[in-house]
Amino acid sequence: MQLRSVSPQLNSEGELHHLLSIEGLPRPLIERILTTADGFIAVGTREVKSVPLLRGRSVFNLFFENSTRTRTTFEIAAKRLSADVYNLNIAASSTAKGESLLDTIDNLTAMQADIFVVRHSQGGAPYLIARHLAPHVHVVNAGDGRHAHPTQALLDLYTIRHYKGAFEPLSVAIVGDILNSRVARSDIHALLTMGVSDLRAVGPLTLLPTGLEELGVRVHTRLEEGIRNADVIVMLRLQNERMRGALLPSAQEYFRNYGLTTQALGHAKPDCIVMHPGPMNRGVEIDSTVADGPHSVILPQVSFGIAVRMAVLSMVASSQRAEFR
Ligand code: CP
Repeated sequence: MQLRSVSPQLNSEGELHHLLSIEGLPRPLIERILTTADGFIAVGTREVKSVPLLRGRSVFNLFFENSTRTRTTFEIAAKRLSADVYNLNIAASSTAKGESLLDTIDNLTAMQADIFVVRHSQGGAPYLIARHLAPHVHVVNAGDGRHAHPTQALLDLYTIRHYKGAFEPLSVAIVGDILNSRVARSDIHALLTMGVSDLRAVGPLTLLPTGLEELGVRVHTRLEEGIRNADVIVMLRLQNERMRGALLPSAQEYFRNYGLTTQALGHAKPDCIVMHPGPMNRGVEIDSTVADGPHSVILPQVSFGIAVRMAVLSMVASSQRAEFR
């Protein structure tokens, strides 16, 4: 009997077979993803923006939750790798008639799917799929519930490395609705794995999960203290769709206390970069003068996401057959 691999996303060779979460990815593997992405940046600047690495492979985008950036950049990434890309329209699919997630996966696998890119409101859905798939098929998590958004964390690392170089000396503040954010959870694991020495979580107590300090994250409930001398600020929107009950007084009061304005940004380092995974709610967590200002790297994050997703798709597709099944 074969033992299941410790991490269901790595095969027995330690290769990335599925991408389910940042947890369990060793630092050298994360570095390899970022280096692989480096090689794909130039593809986007060429007249012919494609390489033949995934020619003949079929990538299925299954977005059971809405998305602008992640879905589109996965589609661009797969097309730049010359894959055949299929975007299942979930609202018009037989999911609406009650077909289960795994029956949907089985039917698309019967259509010779090679890679599934999945966003789902239920945390753990990509794990369920990974355990169910035939060994030659891969799944990439494009965001599952509050749990994880690993490619967002990887593109955030890529952005930070691009602007700041080494991770270790940085002070990074993640600000906002950390409790309900899969981006925050994945960013925290990613930044700690890469050795960031000063990682802070900033927000109202009602939006801060327990257990952060045990991980080595400093917790702040006042914005100015939380971003003081920060090199990097990651702003998060209020994830109203995942809040159970009213935890906040009003958007206006939230902006007064936690909205990143030019004045508040003055507490960070003069060369601080401001990031946001999107979608932004201007006037709630961030002021337009900051979102569109000289410290903002929010749109470069989106562009880097293409190369990072090309790296992930190409790496899972080139991994050996999983031996943990
Ligand atoms: N960052 C992010 O996940 O954005 P979308 O919801 O638009 O994909």
